[in-house]
Amino acid sequence: MPLKTLIVERHDAVTLIRLNRPEALNALNNELLGELSGVLDAAEADEGVRCLVLTGSQRAFAAGADIKEMSDKSYAQMFMTDFFGPAARRIEQFRKPIIAAVAGYALGGGCELAMLCDFIIAAETAKFGQPEINLGVMPGIGGTQRLTRFVGKSKAMDMILTARMMDAAEAERAGLVSRMVAADKLIDEALAAAAKIAGQSPLAVMMNKELVNAAYETTLSTGVAMERRLFHSLFAFDDQKEGMAAFVDKRPAKFTGT
Ligand code: CAA
Repeated sequence: MPLKTLIVERHDAVTLIRLNRPEALNALNNELLGELSGVLDAAEADEGVRCLVLTGSQRAFAAGADIKEMSDKSYAQMFMTDFFGPAARRIEQFRKPIIAAVAGYALGGGCELAMLCDFIIAAETAKFGQPEINLGVMPGIGGTQRLTRFVGKSKAMDMILTARMMDAAEAERAGLVSRMVAADKLIDEALAAAAKIAGQSPLAVMMNKELVNAAYETTLSTGVAMERRLFHSLFAFDDQKEGMAAFVDKRPAKFTGT
């Protein structure tokens, strides 16, 4: 079935997903989250896809969950449908890297969606915020937890309790975004970063992603032990032999994912 809320483009081994609800500043409704989960299922299953880029428009990455869709729901409906749960878990469990390329508003669920990705490249125009307090609610896709881990308690409290937005420069200083770029270079930069990742050993990429994410879930000593075990395990693969031989031979490595 044709997608209604996303535009998906393939750039060699990179899949570029554009959120496409311009009439609602890419607000995340059920249909969009369902389509995104389906695209991620397909990308996970496709061995030719090595990295994803998720973006919005110049005006908005996403201005939050769809307020109009949610406004009349009851507690029972929210609870019984596990509202946001399946889509959030789909992204959390996605094993290949996803880069968020953010321009304009990334608010509420939009900021949370960006934080669910593996790293964020921001245009100078990007604005991050968790303004749910203005609606009498709170973040519902991990904002209280991830924003606090990424920028620290003081800034997270400030943003969540006052609904203050953070611009791209502040977000870069605070560690929420990995790099800030000119707005007209955003997609090129994100695709170049994704292409660089796509050229690495997919085995090493997936294990590295898993271990960085483990840093948020475990103690330092357990995480370091897990890292050492996976580091050792990479020596079972051809890609390690190829990567190190290529260095010694002063040539680019050709990884095969074996
Ligand atoms: N849900 C539904 N529709 C939205 C939306 C949202 N989150 N954000 C914007 N829109 C719609 C507007 O209603 C408007 O539609 P109409 O033209 O039909 O009126 C259209 O998008 C354009 O928006 P504005 O006219 O408001 O544009 P603006 O430039 O004046 O303001 C904005 C931009 C500051 C982002 C403003 O739209 C805004 O404050 N949006 C809501 C932000 C927000 O509160 N996000 C949190 C949502 S709750 C949430 O996300 C919960 C969670 O944690 C999961």
